[in-house]
Amino acid sequence: MTVLLTASILLLLLTVIRAEVLDFDDKNQDDICSLCTCKLDKTVIDCSRRGLTALPDGIDEKVTKLNLSNNEITMFPENLNKLYNLITLDVSNNRLSELNKYALFNLSSLEVLDISRNYFENWLNLSPNDLLLPAMKLKSLDLSHNKFRSMDNLVNQQLLISSSLEILILEYCEIDSISGKSILSGLTNIKILRLNFNPLVKIQGLVSSTLKSLHLSNCQLTTVNQDELAYLPSLIYLKMSHNYRLELAASTYTLYSASLKFLDISYCNVLHTSLQGFPNLKKAIINHNMIRYLRSYELRNNTKLEYLDLSYNNIGSMRVDTFKGLSMLKFLDLSWNQIASIPEGTLSEMPSLTQLKLARNYISQVGHMKSTSITVLDISSCEINTISKDSLEGLQSLIDIDLSRNLISHIPDSISSNTLKYLNLNYNRISHINNLTFFMLPRLTQLGVIGNRFTNIWKKSYFESNPYLDRLDLSDNMWRCDCSDPNMYDFYEFATLEPFKKEESFNLVCSSPINLISQTWLEACYFTWYPSQNVANANSLIWFIVIMITGLSFCILLVNCIRNSMKRRLLAIQQERERQVDEARQRLRELRIRAEQESLTNAPDPRDLISPPSYDEALSMPKLNVSTHSLCETGTGKTKRRRGRRKTKSSGDLLDETERNGDLPVLDDTEPTSDDTRRRRRRRPNRYGSHEIAELDHSPGARRRRMSEIGAEESVTVEIELERPLRPRNRRYSSDDNEVRESDF
Ligand SMILES: *[C@@H]1O[C@H](CO)[C@@H](O)[C@H](O)[C@H]1NC(C)=O
Ligand SMILES: *[C@@H]1O[C@H](CO)[C@@H](O)[C@H](O)[C@H]1NC(C)=O
Ligand SMILES: *[C@@H]1O[C@H](CO)[C@@H](O)[C@H](O)[C@H]1NC(C)=O
Ligand SMILES: *[C@@H]1O[C@H](CO)[C@@H](O)[C@H](O)[C@H]1NC(C)=O
Repeated sequence: MTVLLTASILLLLLTVIRAEVLDFDDKNQDDICSLCTCKLDKTVIDCSRRGLTALPDGIDEKVTKLNLSNNEITMFPENLNKLYNLITLDVSNNRLSELNKYALFNLSSLEVLDISRNYFENWLNLSPNDLLLPAMKLKSLDLSHNKFRSMDNLVNQQLLISSSLEILILEYCEIDSISGKSILSGLTNIKILRLNFNPLVKIQGLVSSTLKSLHLSNCQLTTVNQDELAYLPSLIYLKMSHNYRLELAASTYTLYSASLKFLDISYCNVLHTSLQGFPNLKKAIINHNMIRYLRSYELRNNTKLEYLDLSYNNIGSMRVDTFKGLSMLKFLDLSWNQIASIPEGTLSEMPSLTQLKLARNYISQVGHMKSTSITVLDISSCEINTISKDSLEGLQSLIDIDLSRNLISHIPDSISSNTLKYLNLNYNRISHINNLTFFMLPRLTQLGVIGNRFTNIWKKSYFESNPYLDRLDLSDNMWRCDCSDPNMYDFYEFATLEPFKKEESFNLVCSSPINLISQTWLEACYFTWYPSQNVANANSLIWFIVIMITGLSFCILLVNCIRNSMKRRLLAIQQERERQVDEARQRLRELRIRAEQESLTNAPDPRDLISPPSYDEALSMPKLNVSTHSLCETGTGKTKRRRGRRKTKSSGDLLDETERNGDLPVLDDTEPTSDDTRRRRRRRPNRYGSHEIAELDHSPGARRRRMSEIGAEESVTVEIELERPLRPRNRRYSSDDNEVRESDF
């Protein structure tokens, strides 16, 4: 298993490596694309993060997008001039500190130039007057993360000049002052200026008839001069968030911009909304400021306002006419303030208001709110303790009301709304409802009462007039479970039964009586609700387990049986095979003996027929290191004899023994017949003596023969060697023997 796994992992690795090698090979075919990432047609080349110090060779002039960012380029590459089709050039995060006025020469198609995160420290090193002139189509220039430290226009030397540039990004440039006259005057088409994250205290000298968007967030602005925005007649978008000391306007003047539509002054130090001067404002984000109250007619001039976020202020009071004139306002966020009450009639001043957020205030009652347009009302996390019966009647379009996390303990009967769909009463203190509570809410679809104080289980009849109800959130209440009460089962079914399921059954948990604490309704009442099924179910469960266990053990048994029988069969086959081999051998022997008998009857002098000994014969003959003399002697040693017999049944040993003892040893694997023994006894003395054997063994011919016959006659047994005259025949039989074996396998 492990081997297999390792092998497969190795294979995978190999493939990956090969694939990479192939990939590399592919790249190698082309110079630049082996170094950088190219698009197929080489119009887009990404050489970022390559440790380059200069422009690599081989970049085709048709390249339109070149990324040289994150390298170590110190000199702006001169040979870029030939890439006159370049549209986007990214040289950010390099080590440039200087650009001469020919740097962009011939780059007439260039539109986006990013030289942010370099080492520029002085505007003059940019050759600002001339640099951008050749790039006649340049639209975006990113200079952020350079240390310019200031943005001046003293003798027009530091003036960037471009008639096409639209976006200038100067974030994180440590610019703390903008001084001199009209630093944007060279950029006659500038639309967006981003100066975020600069330690700017003031803006001045920003004069542009084209600038639309100005980003000044996370600076250190304290004030904006009275007429500053007047020099930006096209300004639409102004973002000045996170200027923690910024007061948008002193009490002596108001900022004015007729064009401004979007204003973000969140996270500042604004005391008053100060929006009077922006008659065309559509969206104002003034959250996280210091506004403490809203005056009458405060927003009177912002008739176009659609979105107003005043959350996270300290607004404690407002007037009925505060929002007068906001006829277009759709979204009003007043959450996280200190509002205790909404003066009656306030909301009706905003005929378009659809969404009102009042969360996290100190409103203690809901009532007398009047609006024909509000659809979503959030009054969560206030301190509401009472809802008057007619509280929703004034909100004629209300669809969604969030009253969660308040102190409501009672809902008056017949609270009515023809439009309300979503009623969120989570985390209040309500303990009772009845038939009439939701009676007048015909469109109710979702009701949440999580974390209230209900103990009595509800009745289905509470919702008889709410046909659209499809979701109930009932968890985290103190339900007292009385399983014998048929109403409980009814309501349980009503709430959880598919397909009209309104609540998950696991959310319905008993809190009393004590023996059922923290059980779900179903767990607690299962035996009561399903008495017959119950037992059956329990029984069937037991049965199921029993059947499973028996089935499993049966399977295991079966597998074992099959495995055992397979084993046995294999063993039998093997035994059978061995038996057949033995039989074959036996048959062979018998045949040989018979042949021997036949040949004995008309045997010529055996010595005439002596043929050279076979390999086995030669093997079985006495060893070379034993002299003929010692051979005679060994025969007398008892231990030697035993060893010899044990070691082999070779004819040499046999001869030894016969010579010594004068009789034939009984061989293990042969059952010689009585006349066979007799024959041998008769024959042996006149065949060859130990001298002859030794000589044979010593002779080079014997050795050669031994070599030539290695392996050919493995199966030839003792008798074969003994029956030298019959060798040809024996050979035939022995080959037969071999054939038998082969067919066996
Ligand atoms: C250039 O490459 C860098 C890093 O690989 C990447 O962040 C940046 O967006 C690329 N620039 C352009 C213009 O695609
Ligand atoms: C400048 O661009 C033109 C095509 O607009 C091209 O023919 C010429 O070779 C470029 N000059 C240099 C010096 O690369
Ligand atoms: C508000 O608008 C009126 C005209 O609609 C204008 O006369 C008045 O000056 C504006 N108020 C402020 C504070 O700009
Ligand atoms: C609620 O309605 C059911 C059936 O409509 C009625 O039996 C029951 O008395 C009513 N309960 C109350 C408190 O009105």
